[in-house]
Amino acid sequence: MSDGVIPKIDVRNVFKVFGKREKEALALIKSGKSKDEVLAETGSVVAINDLSLSIHAGEIFVIMGLSGSGKSTLVRHFNRLIDPTSGQILVEGKNILEYDMPALRQFRRQKISMVFQSFGLLPHRNVLDNVAYGLKVRGESQAQCHERARHWISMVGLQGYEQAFIHQLSGGMRQRVGLARALATDTDIILMDEAFSALDPLIRAEMQDQLLELQRTLQKTIVFITHDLEEALRIGHRIAILKDGQLIQVGSPQDILQFPADDYVGRFVQRHHAHARH
Ligand SMILES: Nc1ncnc2c1ncn2[C@@H]1O[C@H](COP(=O)(O)OP(=O)(O)OP(=O)(O)O)[C@@H](O)[C@H]1O
Ligand SMILES: [Mg+2]
Repeated sequence: MSDGVIPKIDVRNVFKVFGKREKEALALIKSGKSKDEVLAETGSVVAINDLSLSIHAGEIFVIMGLSGSGKSTLVRHFNRLIDPTSGQILVEGKNILEYDMPALRQFRRQKISMVFQSFGLLPHRNVLDNVAYGLKVRGESQAQCHERARHWISMVGLQGYEQAFIHQLSGGMRQRVGLARALATDTDIILMDEAFSALDPLIRAEMQDQLLELQRTLQKTIVFITHDLEEALRIGHRIAILKDGQLIQVGSPQDILQFPADDYVGRFVQRHHAHARH
């Protein structure tokens, strides 16, 4: 950033190749070949292609793009579930790729939490234990963990379900458990991968409101992946649009609507205008 403030998350020229011929694929993509050409020549998938962006403290930063555009892959770099093939990732100015296992464990417990696309819950534990899980691994007392867990369970509207098992819940309820777990750990950064996508529209709108309301007081840095431009416009301070692992555009909701960078972004925006007319 030009004013010298250190970004919360800083992604610098990140490439991620999946496949056996990683180095060869990297060289080809750097030489200007397309994702499809590299796949045809090497059998390796370029999931992230020379991507740089900065996310600021306290913002809800939305990542959008079609299925397969690299959204989940990108965000999984931020807590090092995935390491880049090349490039750098800094969190609060620190190069997290240099962290050893103990430093990484500390980082994941204290600094960054994640709500997964596929829930990532413990299926044979009840709601209370799932929400308290992130606190227990930090060594807090049982009573403290449970008290805090109960608070967040009621905040996401699941009061009365503390003893229910995960397999007894609907998809939407599971997503709320995931959200409560992330909020209970009280990390500054929360990664949310399609966290509301399995919810029906009314509950989804309620969850969006709830997140905005919580954010007003909590001031977290939230990285929120969605397929849905309506959701992105509603909750995002800024929106990044990915295509084939590349960053096509990043800007405020107004920027995206008024000045779509290309036809790909334009198609999302047109759908929004069609939607708004109805
Ligand atoms: N573990 C993996 N091994 C091999 N290829 C992968 C792996 N994970 C992702 N990919 C590939 O990387 C690309 C990006 O996938 P990613 O899951 O990041 O997309 P996405 O934007 O999150 O899609 P969706 O909206 O469907 O969740 C795709 O081409 C995918 O096939
Ligand atoms: Mg995904």
